Amino acid sequence: MEKRRVLTGITTTGTPHLGNYVGAIRPAIEASRDPNNESFYFLADLHALIKCHDPKRVQESRREIAATWLALGLDTDNSVFYRQSDIPEITELTWLLTCVCAKGLMNRAHAYKAAVQDNEAEGGADPDKGITMGLFSYPVLMAADILMFNATDVPVGRDQIQHIEMARDVAGRFNHIYKGQYFKLPEARIEESVAVLNGLDGRKMSKSYNNTIPLFVPEKKLLKLIRKIKTNSLEPGEPKSTEDCTLFQIWQAFADENQIADMRQQYENGIGWGDMKNALFELVNDHLKEPRSKYEELMNDMGYVEEVMQKGAEKARAEAGARIDLLRKTVGFGSFV
Ligand code: TRP
Repeated sequence: MEKRRVLTGITTTGTPHLGNYVGAIRPAIEASRDPNNESFYFLADLHALIKCHDPKRVQESRREIAATWLALGLDTDNSVFYRQSDIPEITELTWLLTCVCAKGLMNRAHAYKAAVQDNEAEGGADPDKGITMGLFSYPVLMAADILMFNATDVPVGRDQIQHIEMARDVAGRFNHIYKGQYFKLPEARIEESVAVLNGLDGRKMSKSYNNTIPLFVPEKKLLKLIRKIKTNSLEPGEPKSTEDCTLFQIWQAFADENQIADMRQQYENGIGWGDMKNALFELVNDHLKEPRSKYEELMNDMGYVEEVMQKGAEKARAEAGARIDLLRKTVGFGSFV
């Protein structure tokens, strides 16, 4: 059987939080252990520049995300783990794809449309105010990420489905214009079973809502944050519903079946929110203890992390280089002789 090639990128603008872990990092690391898969995971630092012009923040986030994935046990012998900006072939491919990509297709991208709508709502004269070409053509860069390695499966959140469709569109156009099967058409993989966690305020945990619980904060801080999670005002002894309960939802993401059943019972019995929060802290902390200390070790050993990333880049470029050579010839950039 031909292996599935799984590829996904992590935009390096923030610090990984529990929601990222449960929704993306944990399933990706699991997928990388499946012998039927080849896994390509990368730090999407070129994408980071679209939202963030603070070099310190970009660098810090790259380090944190790299250390996080390694601390959580990503096996870099069984996967290709790299920084997007280490692969100049991706930027080159972006241009080749930009030149076959209809502008009208980009006009329809959700992220761009939302920015235009915000401008229109403000009533200013320029609907494109503050919108860079980076934001506008972001889906082409993302298509290059995927098509560079002919990925078949792209695990992403629902908000990214449109981008995968655009990658398919651009791939098809390139294949058509240059008359060949240069690119496979990738498919979005939406994991129905993975949890989407809510944050401190009960809305989806997201750095844009500023309601996250960072993955590797010190124990004391973790306890403090869990205590901050919003609950209703039911008293201890009153039966509680597990539905739409942020605490229970996080419990479910970390607990085994017995622990989940047990907690359901405790809700019926009227566990107090304070006790629930303490229990949740113990559970989550137990899970994170080991990787947390590994993470701290790695954050203090960037020489090692750098080495890992360079090895990853070498593996990725071996393949990207061969493909870009072919594509250069395809568009007419072969040697003169
Ligand atoms: N745009 C994606 C996000 O914000 C990150 C990303 C960049 C990506 N390139 C990718 C995801 C390629 C999948 C494949 O989540």
